[in-house]
Formats: sequence, C-alpha cells, structure tokens
Amino acid sequence: MTAPDRRTARLLERVLITGAGGQLGVALREAFPAATALTRSDWDVTMPAPSGLLPSLVLHAAAWTDVDGAEAAEDAADAANVVGTRNVAGLGAPLVAYSSDYVFDGTKREPYVESDETGPVSAYGRSKLAAEREISEGWTVRTSWLFGATGHNFVRTMLSLGETRDEVQVVDDQVGCPTYVGHLATATGELLGRSGGIWHLAAQGECSWAEFAEAIFEERGLGCRVERIRTAELQRPATRPAYSVLRSERPDAPLLPHWREGLRECLSRIGNAT
Ligand SMILES: NC(=O)c1ccc[n+]([C@@H]2O[C@H](COP(=O)([O-])OP(=O)(O)OC[C@H]3O[C@@H](n4cnc5c(N)ncnc54)[C@H](OP(=O)(O)O)[C@@H]3O)[C@@H](O)[C@H]2O)c1
Repeated sequence: MTAPDRRTARLLERVLITGAGGQLGVALREAFPAATALTRSDWDVTMPAPSGLLPSLVLHAAAWTDVDGAEAAEDAADAANVVGTRNVAGLGAPLVAYSSDYVFDGTKREPYVESDETGPVSAYGRSKLAAEREISEGWTVRTSWLFGATGHNFVRTMLSLGETRDEVQVVDDQVGCPTYVGHLATATGELLGRSGGIWHLAAQGECSWAEFAEAIFEERGLGCRVERIRTAELQRPATRPAYSVLRSERPDAPLLPHWREGLRECLSRIGNAT
C-alpha cells in the first residue's frame, strides 16, 4: 500500500466513526482501526455532541435506516438523519457522510450518476436527501443495498429463511447494486485522496432482489426456491425506486468489486453462523 499524501495523512490523524454499531460502522472500524468508534449509546446524534471531540475527519454512518418505519415516523427519521448530520457537521471536521440510492425516483432504466436529478419517493429518501444538504465540507457517498456479516440485512435474512423453508417469495421488479460493506469501507479510504462533493460508490453489476436471493442460495448450496413476485403484492408502507443502480460519472471514482464477489466475501465471513 502506498503512503497517504500529506492532506490525507492529516485527515487520518483523529478519525471519528458515528453509528459504529451498524453494519457499515463495523466495517469502517475494521478499515480504520485507530479511529474513535461511537455507537448510538456513546452519542445519539440527535443530541449535541459530547464535549471533547476534536476529530480531523468524521465517517458518519449513524442513520435512521428503517425505510418502512420512516413513513409513520418522518419526524423521528428527520431527527436522526437531518438534525443528526447537522450536529455531526457542527464538529467542524470534514465528513464522509453516507447517503442512498433512495434519493432517486427509480424511473430511469440506466444507471444514476451524480448529476442526475433527485426525486425521493419515500420519507426515508427525503430525509437522506435533506441530510445531504447539511454537509458543507467533505464527501457525500451515495451507496445502495448494503449487506455485511453483521446486523440486519437481506443476506442474513435470506440465509435464515433458506435454511428453514423450501421456498421464499422475493420481489423481482426492483433492481439495484447490492454492495458489501467491507468493499465500501475500503473505497472510503481511497476517496480521501480525491476532491469532495457527491460520489456514487456501489458494487459493479446489477440485479433484482429475487436474483440476489437466488445467488445467496446458490453460493450457500441451499435448495430453497425463489418465487418471483411483484412489489405491489407485498403492500409495504414505503414506495421504493424500481431501478436504482448507481454509477459514478467521475473519472477518478474508486471502483468497487462486483456484487457477487462481495456476496462471496460476506458469506465466508459469516461462516456457518447465521
Ligand atoms: N442499509 C442499506 O441498504 C443502505 C443503503 C444505502 C445507504 N445506506 C446508508 O448507509 C449508512 C449506514 O447504513 P447501515 O446499513 O450500516 O445501517 P444500520 O446497520 O442500520 O446502522 C445504522 C446505525 O446508526 C445507529 N443510529 C440510528 N439512529 C441513531 C442516532 N440517533 N444516533 C446515533 N446512532 C444512531 C443505529 O443504531 P441502532 O441499531 O441502535 O438503531 C445503527 O447502529 C446510513 O447512512 C444509511 O442511510 C444504507
């Protein structure tokens, strides 16, 4: 690995991670082992920052991420995502703040790039877009369909269903880029040598949730079948974009591996414990 340039080295002097108990937070702790890692019990970001924090860089992974729950609790989602980001930005250090493919409406049929118009179709998406506007210095990383070896995510849910059922119903009319948190954490490190602003960082490739479920079962050797259904059949509270593949139009964007590679890496980290 090459030594960081002077600016990056200064940024890395006192790194703070928020939301360190979440799936991305755990991956960031691994990628930045010298960082101060704060879980929600250390700092609820809706509250003013604890005294004495003087970070040189904040990796802001704390967020309200319950997409359906946000529909009935938009104020609480905004408190965590918008006020929370404001409080974190108030520390005065540059941020890497994580945003979402759900800031788009999903009507495109080719990948969304940084300059595309936003148009969230859910309370969660609106709160993430409003959070982006709180960031004045640093990097806004839009990413998508995160999964890792810890926490609540689609891979872990499918593994436990696949071990106990012959068949699961999964939607086949939402397409995105399932992104492994370990790959995103590595790309975050690469981003620090680049200029700030909005960056789309998601895995290569694209698939539907049903195709992702099939890949999970195939990689794991589980015989569970996937019945492909439509989103409307699920009647979930939040509307989700039908297509939210993210790509970067920036020539120096860090490239993440393909989602299938991320899946294999995640499954090997999970081992046999789900
Ligand atoms: N998950 C995805 O598919 C996805 C896709 C695109 C973008 N993102 C973005 O990526 C980032 C990381 O997401 P993730 O998947 O790692 O989510 P996650 O696993 O749900 O982790 C979020 C963490 O934030 C914490 N948190 C929630 N409210 C907080 C508050 N008020 N103060 C401090 N901490 C708080 C949560 O704590 P508790 O567990 O105690 O609530 C949790 O540890 C978020 O900004 C998210 O919006 C996620």
